[in-house]
Amino acid sequence: MIGAGYVGLVSAACFSEFGWTVTCIDKDTDRIAQLNSGKVPIFEPGLDNLVERNRSADRLRFSTDLHTAVASADLIFLAVGTPMRRGDGHADLSYIFSAVEEIAPHLQAFTVITTKSTVPVGTSREIELKLKQLRPDADFVVCSNPEFLREGSAIQDFTHPDRVLVGCDDERARVIMERLYKPLTLRNAPIMFVGRESAELAKYAANSFLAMKISFINEIADLCSEVGADVQEVANAVGADGRIGDKFLHPGPGYGGSCFPKDVSALIRIGRENRAPISLIEQVQSINDERKISMAGRIEKAAGGSVRDKIIAVLGVTFKPNTDDMREAPSIVIVPMLQEKGATIRIYDPQGRKHGEDMLPGVIWADSALDAAQGADIAVILTEWNELRALDLETLKDKMRGDVLVDLRNIYRPELVAEAGFRYQSIGRPSD
Ligand code: UDX
Repeated sequence: MIGAGYVGLVSAACFSEFGWTVTCIDKDTDRIAQLNSGKVPIFEPGLDNLVERNRSADRLRFSTDLHTAVASADLIFLAVGTPMRRGDGHADLSYIFSAVEEIAPHLQAFTVITTKSTVPVGTSREIELKLKQLRPDADFVVCSNPEFLREGSAIQDFTHPDRVLVGCDDERARVIMERLYKPLTLRNAPIMFVGRESAELAKYAANSFLAMKISFINEIADLCSEVGADVQEVANAVGADGRIGDKFLHPGPGYGGSCFPKDVSALIRIGRENRAPISLIEQVQSINDERKISMAGRIEKAAGGSVRDKIIAVLGVTFKPNTDDMREAPSIVIVPMLQEKGATIRIYDPQGRKHGEDMLPGVIWADSALDAAQGADIAVILTEWNELRALDLETLKDKMRGDVLVDLRNIYRPELVAEAGFRYQSIGRPSD
C-alpha cells in the first residue's frame, strides 16, 4: 500500500485484518515512525485497535523502504494523495506518477498495480503506458479499485461495502483481485468487474451525485423557510421513495471534506475537457460555494443585523462529526467572515483544534461547549457532533450573555429551544 493517509492506512489495516500481509509505505518518515511506535496519526474510530492488532500479528508493517516492499509484492496499491490543484480544478497526479517511477525498477514477478486513490478517467491506462516505457520487460497489469469510504465510518464502509468496484481487463489480475476481496464476497458484498475507465468515472459520478443530493436539499430547505414547510418532513417524505433513498438529504451549511469538493471539481473539468459538460454538477458546485458564504450573513441576520463587537460561540468546526479533518469545512469560510464583520469567535470542537489552530487564526479555543458559550451573545452549531445534541440548553443559555442560537444542522427541536429562552434560527423549518 503506497500512501499511509486516510485511504491507504484504513485499506492497509482492513486488508491485513482479512489475513493478507500488507506493507504500508509512506515518504513521511515521522508518520511511519509514529505508526511503528503504535501511534495512529489520524482520528478514525476503531483504526488504532485495528492497526495495533495486525501490527502485533506482523501482518501489517510500516516502512519508508518502497523498494524492498515492491520487490516481494503480488499487489501494489497506489493510495497517495490526488489533491485538487488550486485554480484549475485538475486533480494533481504528481504523487501518483512519482510513486509509479519509484516502483518501476523494482517490479519482479507478475504484479498487479491498482489505483485506490481517486484519479481522472484514463489514469490507469496512463500509468500502464508509463510503466511499459520504464520497464518494457516487466510482467504487470494496472487496475482501478476506487474506494467509497466515508471519514468517521471508514472501517465500517470498507468491511461492509455496498459493492467492491474493480476496473480490470486482465484475467490474471481478476483472479488476484477476487482472492483479495474473498472475505468480503463471502459476506455477499458484490464485487463488480468493469472497464477501467468505467471504474474511474463511476467514483466521480457517485460522489458528485451525493453532492447533488446535498445541494438539492439545501435549496429545498431555503424554499421551506419561505413557504412555512419543514425540510425534515419534506426530506423524509421524498426519501421514503426507494428510487431516491433517505440518505444525504440533510440540509446544512454546505458540504466539505477532502473528497466532494475535489471530486466535483474534477468531474466538471473532465466533462469540459471531453466536450461533454456536466452542467448539473457545475450548478451543484456553485450552490455549495455560495451557501458557505451566505451562512455568515444568515448568522448576522439572526443576531439582529450586526455581529460587530459580539462574542460568537461556534460549536463544531470539522467538516463533519467523528473526524479531525478540516479540509474545505464550511467553518473555514464562515469564521473569518464573522471576524471580518467584527465578531470575537470562541470555538469548541471535540477534535477540531488539532488542525483548526492553524486554519482558523485569531479565535479563542474552548475546552467544552459550555466554556465556549461563556459570555457569548450568539451560539452557532456548525458540525453535528453527538455531544452537541445532548447539551443542556438551559445551562447553555445561563452561560451566555445573549439569547441567539443558530443551528445550521437542525440538531435541536425548536420548541425545546424556545422553552430554554433562546431566539432560535435553524434551516428550513417554520419556526425560523
Ligand atoms: C464522501 C463519500 O461519502 C464517500 O463515499 C467517499 O469515498 C469520500 O467522500 P466523506 O467526504 O468522508 O465521504 O463524508 P460524507 O459523510 O460523505 O459527508 C461529506 C460532506 O457532506 C460533509 O461536509 C457533510 O457534512 C455533508 N453532508 C453529508 C450534508 O451536508 N448532508 C448530508 O445529508 C450528508
